[in-house]
Amino acid sequence: MTTALIILAAGQGSRMNSDLPKVLHEVANAPLFAHALNAGTALEPEKTVLVVGHGGDLVEAAARKIDDTIVIAHQTEQLGTAHAVAQARAALADFDGDALVLYGDTPFVTSQTLTNMIAARATHDVVVLGFDAADAGRYGRLVTSGETLERIVEYKDANDAERAITLCNSGVVCANAQTLFALIDAVGNDNASGEYYLTDIVELAWSAGKTATAVTCDEAETLGINTRVELARAEGIFQTAKRAEALDNGVTLTAPETVFFSLDTYVGRDAIIEPNVVFGPNVTVESTARIRAFSHLEGCHVSMGATVGPYARLRPGAELSNNAHVGNFVEIKNARIGEGTKVNHLTYIGDADIGDGTNVGAGTITCNYDGVFKHKTTIGRNAFIGSNTMLVAPVTVGDDAMTASGSVITSHVEDGALAIARAKQVNKAGLAVRLFEKLKSAKKNAQKGL
Ligand code: UD1
Ligand code: CA
Repeated sequence: MTTALIILAAGQGSRMNSDLPKVLHEVANAPLFAHALNAGTALEPEKTVLVVGHGGDLVEAAARKIDDTIVIAHQTEQLGTAHAVAQARAALADFDGDALVLYGDTPFVTSQTLTNMIAARATHDVVVLGFDAADAGRYGRLVTSGETLERIVEYKDANDAERAITLCNSGVVCANAQTLFALIDAVGNDNASGEYYLTDIVELAWSAGKTATAVTCDEAETLGINTRVELARAEGIFQTAKRAEALDNGVTLTAPETVFFSLDTYVGRDAIIEPNVVFGPNVTVESTARIRAFSHLEGCHVSMGATVGPYARLRPGAELSNNAHVGNFVEIKNARIGEGTKVNHLTYIGDADIGDGTNVGAGTITCNYDGVFKHKTTIGRNAFIGSNTMLVAPVTVGDDAMTASGSVITSHVEDGALAIARAKQVNKAGLAVRLFEKLKSAKKNAQKGL
């Protein structure tokens, strides 16, 4: 059975106290809606529709960056959850599989739970995701009888007996897309909020001779974000879960509580992550690599056996080959570091390609930017870049070549050559002693006020 996702993301989220639409606030360096999208994408949906409203253009742009096949549906007025889902109708007009409705502000629903819901569709027409709430608060209540879900009643519309129910509505719903839209057609807004409630489709399903059931999940999965406090709490929950997952996958975390991951961070088995490491978006670390303390990585790939840090910064496009070493106070951007190559101290490598087995001395800088354009530096294999070499790009250094310490390299160094590009040293005998005497006497005179 094919699946389509409908992700509701039109709400403003006024309690965030922000100019940014709620679903663009980030957990683990990914906008909130991307978490729901990620869980849904694991089901390999045929189509994904994102319903946007407040800040719709911004949300659309963020969605395009993640997946440009997402269809955007606009809900100009927020008239309720049923009305929001109805906006996806045109996008799914020809789609006859199951539609799964998710909330963009509810990041932790797992793909396993969604799979359980799809499985429950084998026996029921409408499947709702419920949870047993520790404090049911103002959630909609699920009125059940055995495995039958009879109806959902919103807190505002519920009587005391219904409010005593602890089985609550998460908001996630699954039904055949055409069935869903047909049921929504019959939803009215004669209720305490004057809104079109998606929850009404359960009772309408039974009236139409169809059936409904609830699948349940852990309450933690259904956490919705409404405030900055909840956003901060969600970040903590995400990090705790991701650390546990890394440990389970055979990654050593010396001090797990000090390591911060992004939604898409991948770390392989037997990699070692030392304390205070931050993974920005789009990082993959292969097995047996070691990331030493206080390093910051984003948009990069670290291959097997490579080591990074302490205090290293890998920026987007950094590609470390097997057994490469990047040491303390080194920044790498948009550059490949060859197999076994060492860039160990106080260095900036940007827009570069460095071959295998090369050694880059302390204080080396690729001067990649002329104020307008970025230029490339290419260094061959088994080369030796002397300490404090400035490589003024575009420039190439050949295989087995060397640069003398302190050189400013502005033109090609051929294979096997030694490039010396610095002022020649001149020693003036006795001049240091005479200079010291002159300076000391000047100081004495100054103190006497002469
Ligand atoms: C909804 C459910 C409630 C459930 C709760 C779980 C209904 C009627 N009620 O209530 O049973 O317990 O979620 O959190 O469905 N949205 C739109 N457009 C709209 C309205 C909402 O896109 O016109 C989006 C919101 O941005 C949000 C989601 O839908 O992501 C839920 O809307 P919200 O107003 O928070 O619903 P609740 O009143 O919390
Ligand atoms: Ca809500």
